[in-house]
Amino acid sequence: MPSIDDLRPTLEAANQAHLLTFADQLSANERDSLLSQIAAIDLAKLPELIHEYVLNKPTFELPEGVDAAPYYPADPTESFKPYDAKKYHAAGQDLLRAGKIACFVVAGGQGSRLGYEGPKGCYPAGAVTKKPLFQIFAENILATAKKYGATVPWYIMTSPLNHDATVAFFNEHGHFGLDPADVMFFPQGTMPSFDMASGKILLTDRHQLATNPDGHGGSLTALHTSGALDDMARRGIEHFSYFQVDNATIRITDPLFLGLHAAAPDSSAEISSKMLPKAFPEERVGLFATAGGRTHVIEYSDMPIELQRETGADGRLRFLAGSPAIHVFGRAFVEKVNTDAGFDLPYHRAEKKIPHVDLATGERVSPDAPNGVKLERFVFDALPLAERSIILETSRVEDFAPIKNAEGTDSPASSAELQTQKAANWLEAAGVEIPKKSDGTPDCVLEISPLTALEPGDLKGADLPAKIEAGKRLAL
Ligand code: UD1
Repeated sequence: MPSIDDLRPTLEAANQAHLLTFADQLSANERDSLLSQIAAIDLAKLPELIHEYVLNKPTFELPEGVDAAPYYPADPTESFKPYDAKKYHAAGQDLLRAGKIACFVVAGGQGSRLGYEGPKGCYPAGAVTKKPLFQIFAENILATAKKYGATVPWYIMTSPLNHDATVAFFNEHGHFGLDPADVMFFPQGTMPSFDMASGKILLTDRHQLATNPDGHGGSLTALHTSGALDDMARRGIEHFSYFQVDNATIRITDPLFLGLHAAAPDSSAEISSKMLPKAFPEERVGLFATAGGRTHVIEYSDMPIELQRETGADGRLRFLAGSPAIHVFGRAFVEKVNTDAGFDLPYHRAEKKIPHVDLATGERVSPDAPNGVKLERFVFDALPLAERSIILETSRVEDFAPIKNAEGTDSPASSAELQTQKAANWLEAAGVEIPKKSDGTPDCVLEISPLTALEPGDLKGADLPAKIEAGKRLAL
């Protein structure tokens, strides 16, 4: 552990000596804790980082020659990119059967928009059962393992803020039936949070630096440093499915997606993505694009609105492909980027209200306007590192029912409606009569556990009612 005298000159050079303001008043334990937090920061890189991202707002330049990214349509007979869906579906199933697929959820986010205190994966999300998101995912993985007769390990990225609570939740619930040996938790890295005006790192307590999780882009580093990639290699895992903790209907192990990722001629099996057609031009989603032969996701706020409104000859939006943040990664790719000297994803800046200690008075301040800057990395900034990357179209009802906000779009209520619609489609296809409202949506609340069916075909032979009564709540 470095001493205060060792650290002071380095901190002064980085304009961060204020972190020692209260050092003389701390207990020995508090001082040790402060010093180890400071020692964990890359102080040499800090001045440049602060200059570029905190004191200035980096300007985004649209990559030269930017164009809409091609994608595999949900309907494999579409004339613009027909393909043999059966073949790729079978290739994905082969990978699952051979035990070469793992699952990876990024669950380190703070979830403040939802106003829920605990880790977001503990949120009661099931439309009927209110089972937690983590249980829905666990059932998905259990059902996949059973169906394909293979072990499907699950890697869960937490953050230092919710790690212990997440692990405790799994312990309390017996890992939802999964073998604990096949579930690995690891916390992501953090970044210091900065004062917006001065670029100084904020203190949340006299001995405590303000920090924030380093974004889902930090997962690519954390997979390496935690030993998760080594664990995958030992188990013979070749690819892993990447998903966000907020998505209640994600098809975690979609054989078609896995097969296209691993075997399509225009895929280098490094990173693949699913896309959702934008519902309207101004929809706030990241957009898939190509430039220089590589795939990019460009944030809606960085994409000129005229380009977002542009339509093609068929009348559809030119930049149609929005990102629901569903990917497959090749293990070898993530290993490679971690050993490449130049692997350095850009940071994104967010202005936030950050409670802190006033350096002059030692009092805690809770600002009512943004006073600080958080820096995060985004996982999709790794897309251009992949040589050839494919995109598969999916549908909102089948694959995307996120819970992000307390009300309105992407809320528990909208997620429950999508879960119901998905279940209704599957049941209808199996011959069950579904009650409808005047707008055509189901007049009932439905939920199908992944243990009952992972895909519509799994309902064949299940014990199903002939008809569902209006207003009924039914979990299968
Ligand atoms: C994200 C995407 C957006 C996409 C949408 C789909 C970004 C910047 N935007 O938006 O393009 O359309 O999802 O749902 O990503 N997380 C961590 N650690 C962190 C930060 C986040 O694990 O440090 C995890 C969260 O737990 C969550 C996911 O990443 O699972 C998404 O984070 P969030 O910040 O909520 O992104 P969105 O604004 O929802």
